[in-house]
Amino acid sequence: MASRILVPWALAESGREVLKKSRLRVTYLHGPAGELPKLEELVQAVKEADVVLPRGGQPVPREVLAANPALRGVANHGVGYDNVDVVSATELGVPVTNTPEILTETTADLAWALLMATARKIPQTHNLTVSGRFTGPVGHPFMGMDIGPGGSNLPKVLGIIGFGRIGRAVMRRSKGFKMKVIAYDPPLREMIEKTPGVEYRELHDLLKESDFVTIHCPLTKETHHLIGRNELELLKPTAILINASRGPVVDEVALVSVLKEKRIFGAGLDVYEKEPQLAPGLAELDNVVLLPHIGSLTQDTRNQMAIVAAKNAVAMARKKKPRNLVNPEVLTRPEYLQRVSG
Ligand code: 8YV
Repeated sequence: MASRILVPWALAESGREVLKKSRLRVTYLHGPAGELPKLEELVQAVKEADVVLPRGGQPVPREVLAANPALRGVANHGVGYDNVDVVSATELGVPVTNTPEILTETTADLAWALLMATARKIPQTHNLTVSGRFTGPVGHPFMGMDIGPGGSNLPKVLGIIGFGRIGRAVMRRSKGFKMKVIAYDPPLREMIEKTPGVEYRELHDLLKESDFVTIHCPLTKETHHLIGRNELELLKPTAILINASRGPVVDEVALVSVLKEKRIFGAGLDVYEKEPQLAPGLAELDNVVLLPHIGSLTQDTRNQMAIVAAKNAVAMARKKKPRNLVNPEVLTRPEYLQRVSG
């Protein structure tokens, strides 16, 4: 029987094309406006599938993975894969793939857009202009923060947490602003120390020294609430915090109180702890710029992500080794070999 690929969300046309050309059987499971299926529906549907292709952020817990002993893979649409229980997947012999590289530049662009919008209060001043309250050049409370050296010609310090592909792309963009760059990423300390134009800092030192802190690490047990109340209190009163990685890296409730107390200048967020919910009080603040997780959302990049995720799904459905395996250790597990035998 031909392999079956389950797509439980509204995959872009470019990915659908790849799946169509594969001639494998494909089932789309989502509401008319792209609503995601409930967990129970996903558990039922996965029983009939060889590979599942979830959207980034769509939970794929053990319950889903264990529902089908013949499941051959999870092709996640996104570079982050914290939505998939990879530990269980490996244990059960299920390969998991992601879509790295293609969204690096797009996400770095977005982090910079967020940084600049927060520093110069772009959404706040846009709202003023379109609301008819623009009666002449404005001053307080719309005073911004410099990104480049400003009138006093003092270079600003950019603190990057997470020096992977996206963190490094963010650093490249800082050159035009003549910034001093410091970075924290314990597993990549050596790389940081060898890279010209960036200095390694321990987390607390980075927080104390930076004018802008931008987060680009994956969500893991180690990075969950990496930035809590204690860390936020180390920031300068003029500092700006940017998060375009994963919400739970920051204690959002603590962030709201620090912002409310005006202990920092502002925060620009694309991700949230309990997406799509925001922490109470966050949306009412005037020193935030809040985006609905649009880091990789450009036509070109999303088309490519859909193609890569679909190709990974097809490879796994055909029992081949996919390109972007995040748990390669699965390949030698007897549970995996059993799934692809026969
Ligand atoms: C999207 C992302 O949220 O790639 C990631 O890790 O967070 C984003 O690109 C997502 O993957 C869309 O499916």
